[in-house]
Amino acid sequence: MRQNMIAGNWKMNGTSDSVKTLIEGVVSGLSADQKCDVVVGAPYVYIPAVVAATASSVVKVAAQDVSEQDKGAFTGEVSAEMLKDVGCEYVIIGHSERRSLYGETDQDSAQKYMAAQRHGLTPIFCIGELLEERENGTTEAVCARQLDAVIEAAGIASLANAVIAYEPVWAIGTGKVASPAQAQEVHAFIRNKLAQLDTAIAEKVQILYGGSMNPGNVADLIAQPDIDGGLIGGASLNAEDFLALCQAAG
Ligand code: 13P
Repeated sequence: MRQNMIAGNWKMNGTSDSVKTLIEGVVSGLSADQKCDVVVGAPYVYIPAVVAATASSVVKVAAQDVSEQDKGAFTGEVSAEMLKDVGCEYVIIGHSERRSLYGETDQDSAQKYMAAQRHGLTPIFCIGELLEERENGTTEAVCARQLDAVIEAAGIASLANAVIAYEPVWAIGTGKVASPAQAQEVHAFIRNKLAQLDTAIAEKVQILYGGSMNPGNVADLIAQPDIDGGLIGGASLNAEDFLALCQAAG
């Protein structure tokens, strides 16, 4: 049986003070018998503080991006080895904001995914279609193409140490959540696609839904058989809301 995961993506939000308040609120509010995996994706500069604040809790820390390079003259970049060194365990890769605002290609995302795994980080690999792609009926083709880039580069077996996040771009930060049936349809497509290559991997991999998930809609989404939790933006910035999501996910 797959365990659910609730992963927060704080994006480029926070200050030292607000991050401290948020993470302390999350850590102190989690129940001792928390059943789902809990991850928070912090901005790079706050990762050491968040790692320290979560040290005696079940909460794991993610970065929101990583360099595809291991080290060297790459001004401004942060390597997977550095993230591992400061206590990160996960890294969000291929978020639609990286793809659309910073021109990250499928191949770039695949290279970052491999860099993360080379250094023992678990990628939370994001895929998802734009509104126009949903409207012109290419949702599955887009998700398949994004997933294939990683499978071709890193192999199907690499997904034993990865999480997939399906984030329809039209649902991100818009308040427009995919219906449970719409999300389940794509999650099932993803799992079936993986099952054609490796049934054990397909059965094991956690597939998160992302896009305007909140305490009001989480229950119906995670009740779907192929939805194993959520990647949460806005609602992860409020400890009470984030805790409600964790509670709903087990
Ligand atoms: P929202 O939850 O704010 O829609 O953001 C989702 C997201 O992009 C998580 O990575």
